[in-house]
Amino acid sequence: MNLRIFRHIADLRAELDALRAQGKRIACVPTMGNLHEGHLQLIHLARKNADIVVATIFVNRLQFGLNEDWDQYPRTFDSDCQKLDAARCDYLFFPDETEMYPNGMEGQTRVLAPTMTDILCGASRPGHFEGVTTVVTKLFHIVEPDVAIFGLKDYQQLAIVKRMATDLCMGVEIIGAPIARDKDGLALSSRNAYITEDERPKANQLHQSLSNAKQKIEQGERDFRAIEESAKAEIEAAGFRLDYFSVCNAETLDPAVDDDKELAILGALFTSAARLIDNLTLNLK
Ligand code: PAF
Repeated sequence: MNLRIFRHIADLRAELDALRAQGKRIACVPTMGNLHEGHLQLIHLARKNADIVVATIFVNRLQFGLNEDWDQYPRTFDSDCQKLDAARCDYLFFPDETEMYPNGMEGQTRVLAPTMTDILCGASRPGHFEGVTTVVTKLFHIVEPDVAIFGLKDYQQLAIVKRMATDLCMGVEIIGAPIARDKDGLALSSRNAYITEDERPKANQLHQSLSNAKQKIEQGERDFRAIEESAKAEIEAAGFRLDYFSVCNAETLDPAVDDDKELAILGALFTSAARLIDNLTLNLK
């Protein structure tokens, strides 16, 4: 196996400092493990954008709500390492909680991105994005990457990280990787494992409704709130509970208005045991 695994910040820093001194460009791919094809596409994109690829696996308790599945979250270290190695990832940073939060989590200094974090996914997952921005900031300080790759599937996360990197002058380029999908359009996600056999044939409904909404907008429809309402009806008719469906300004995530040109349509629904998210973007220029 060529993949080199580091558990301690100081060791990884020493290794990466030496590479940086040789002029190598470093990419970081933060993950929580349980890797699937979507993650491996992030690694491939990282390879195209840098000389050295550093993946991180850390199931960050700080971004899980009290009623969420932190201890149930699948830990699949051995198979993750094999997949990373096969995808030609150079380094894996795999810290434990005391390495990442040596002073505990209660008093941990946090990074807040105020306007974009309490809406959409943030509305049903209070504190989630604060946990994400905090851990991603720490990972950026540890790895000091030139470029970092995040999946477009978590569109809100990507938009927040981009905004944070700009606001805090982080000097890291943030790249979004296209969504990997099953044949029927269902976006790949670790949480798809919780979709039941009965639900699976209709689990692509979110993608269907996003595509319908996109088509209506491309055909000239501008009543975004009516588009959202009909998507809600479609999703409920397929037997799922909608969390949100929103046509947004692609950068600020505010509800889209008539003269917005770059739009993102974001949705989330609940199956019996999972919460699925997906999105599509469109440019009206
Ligand atoms: O998208 C994820 O897997 C996580 O939110 C991230 C970016 C690795 C931070 O823990």
